[in-house]
Amino acid sequence: MIDKFAESERLRVKAHAMIPGGSHTYAKGDDQYPILSPSHIVRGQGAHVWDADGNEYIEYGNGNRAVSLGHAFPAVVEAVKRELDNGVSFTRPGAIEVAAAEHFLSIVGNAEMVKFSKDGSDATSGAVKLARAYTGRDLIAICADHPFFSVDDWFIGSTPMHGGIPDAVRDLTVKFRYNDIESVKALIAQFPGQIAGFILEPERLDPPKENFLHELKRLAHEAGALFILDEMITGFRWHQKGAQHVYGLDPDLSTWGKALANGFSVSALAGKYEFMRLGDLTQTDHKRVFLLSTTHGGETHGLAAAIATMQVYQREPVIEHMHGVGERLRQGFTQAAQVHGLQGHVTAMGRASNLLFGTLDAEGKPSQAFRTLFLQETIKRGVIMPSLVVCYSHSDEDVDRTIDAVSGAMAVYKQALESGVERFLVGRASIPVYRTYNAPAE
Ligand SMILES: Cc1ncc(COP(=O)(O)O)c(C=O)c1O
Repeated sequence: MIDKFAESERLRVKAHAMIPGGSHTYAKGDDQYPILSPSHIVRGQGAHVWDADGNEYIEYGNGNRAVSLGHAFPAVVEAVKRELDNGVSFTRPGAIEVAAAEHFLSIVGNAEMVKFSKDGSDATSGAVKLARAYTGRDLIAICADHPFFSVDDWFIGSTPMHGGIPDAVRDLTVKFRYNDIESVKALIAQFPGQIAGFILEPERLDPPKENFLHELKRLAHEAGALFILDEMITGFRWHQKGAQHVYGLDPDLSTWGKALANGFSVSALAGKYEFMRLGDLTQTDHKRVFLLSTTHGGETHGLAAAIATMQVYQREPVIEHMHGVGERLRQGFTQAAQVHGLQGHVTAMGRASNLLFGTLDAEGKPSQAFRTLFLQETIKRGVIMPSLVVCYSHSDEDVDRTIDAVSGAMAVYKQALESGVERFLVGRASIPVYRTYNAPAE
């Protein structure tokens, strides 16, 4: 290990001795990054972070897309500090819970009620539970093209990493494809009267085609199922009102988190009174639903962060800025690929505010080894970019510096295509998170 990552290496070893997976989020894990990478971040400011060895980076994806304004964004930090002086958690709900709900519902116009929790998984699992309780059905239909909905069994059981999850639970999740309305019809025909709800992200890489989202909602309702939009990524990124606003959709339930509180732990399950009321104290016509009740659900400074974040979105051009710098990044990235003759191998994809990139090998197949090499070479040049996802704090200058780093990394990529990736990649390639077994230690 070179000196640049000496402290990182020390922390990496300690972390794995104490923490299964070495971290508290699989997507941040060592197996997702090259050997030559910072293992831990010590602080962030705006779109920049500093690792445990003091190396500075421009960062993309900021906290798995949670930090959409930027690290330590002053308006949010000040609101949190003010709230901390009032205490964190009381025997009865904090008054700020009402203020946060009012703020949220005034922004997300289609929802009539909202319940906050800490993680996005709480919200999506809450939506699934409500759909099951409302319909009295067990099956849940998820979009097979969307990579993550929840840490809970109803979703993780559907991935190859389903250790610890009974088959009986796994059998209750069925799948349809995005932009493939025939797959939805086939599912409804295969499981008549059994599907409680359809859950999907409004958009990931490709926009909806042929009115797919509206048609899905229509078919779901016709089949007696709920239409649930997971706005964890699209919310406060496509638009502050979510992708449902962009596409003129009115979901039964929608789920929010990530950008909602600029990295503080707040998620939300929002939806129509007709469904949300099942978790209320007054309804008498359904069984009671234990809907999102956690000790820390109303943590006051988290909700203060959410209110401050929503206020920034309302008074500043956050969405416009993210789309602007994202587009600059897409163009620079694409031009760099052209300059290096890599158009068919390194491609930027998706909405400008939420770009991803693909890394293809010499045969044009997706390659983890080339992805890892690309990460290694951009990290070497001062950029951490598991994605090209921007935040409000990314400046044009950040993007231009990033393109320089990308161009340098692409020069190495080009050589690796010609003479073998193993000549340039230090150590093993990264591996997808969802795998049934780890490789035996060498
Ligand atoms: C679309 C989507 N839904 C739900 C979740 C779950 O959120 P959390 O990790 O906060 O539990 C994620 C997290 O990555 C996500 O991307």
